[in-house]
Amino acid sequence: MLRLHDKIALVTGSGNGIGRATAELFAVQGAHVWVTDVDGAAAETVAAGIAAKGGQATAAAMDVSKGQDVSAVMRRVTADHGRLDIVVNNAGLNVRGDFRHMTDADWVKIREVNLDGVVRVARDAFDLMRASSGASLINVASIMGSKGLRQLVGYSATKGAVVALTKGLAFEYAPFKIRVNTLSPGYIETALTERILRNPIFEKWLIDRTLLKRLGTVEDIAKAALFLASDDSAYMTGAELVVDGGMTASL
Ligand SMILES: NC(=O)c1ccc[n+]([C@@H]2O[C@H](COP(=O)([O-])OP(=O)(O)OC[C@H]3O[C@@H](n4cnc5c(N)ncnc54)[C@H](O)[C@@H]3O)[C@@H](O)[C@H]2O)c1
Repeated sequence: MLRLHDKIALVTGSGNGIGRATAELFAVQGAHVWVTDVDGAAAETVAAGIAAKGGQATAAAMDVSKGQDVSAVMRRVTADHGRLDIVVNNAGLNVRGDFRHMTDADWVKIREVNLDGVVRVARDAFDLMRASSGASLINVASIMGSKGLRQLVGYSATKGAVVALTKGLAFEYAPFKIRVNTLSPGYIETALTERILRNPIFEKWLIDRTLLKRLGTVEDIAKAALFLASDDSAYMTGAELVVDGGMTASL
């Protein structure tokens, strides 16, 4: 039996990286996946790839920092399915730089996607999730939501806020049979981390601090998202699932 048989899922930022792997795994497990991304062409490519393997997917260009984009996609999902069983708030970015040089525009850009986007999607998907017989909302934060590192100050602030937001939402959405959890990855090889991982000294520093002695893969995170999306996590809400190879468990 497929673990997401007949489920309707929406994954933000699923044109690449962790979101893409999550959308692809959900489709393999029987979900109809809305592949959404600010990069509409990337979303189309992922959805076409899913369809070519016999899965079900709909692509949509959706910038989570734009209210009209999110409303338009919710209207399309309402018309096509009338419900959402799984929503993954995955879209995220960083603008690298030392905090003391961060411009207002840099900060707004990070916040608009990493925090405001999560708020908007969690709110605008509510009616569709309430129409499910039991929905799962997954907010992708980061181990940096509770840690500090150079050039990640603004990013960390938004991710910490997502962890807190998730707990409040879990409280408010529980009466409507909507579970809300945070998924916090450690260091995963994607476009987001490509530039810093090109520095072999930093890469070694990270691996030395990871108990399992390797960086994470997008599949590692997609499998954790599948767990949170499926009934296997039926008794979890308001929790933070950390998938970091043990990086934050050690000193
Ligand atoms: N890669 C890591 O090590 C890591 C670690 C912890 C947390 N995360 C989080 O995981 C999530 C995915 O990161 P990733 O590493 O796969 O990044 P990625 O850069 O590979 O992919 C991010 C995707 O989000 C899309 N996107 C960017 N802005 C958007 C917007 N405004 N609206 C919609 N889509 C948008 C991009 O087009 C891209 O397809 C992010 O929230 C990130 O903060 C990543």
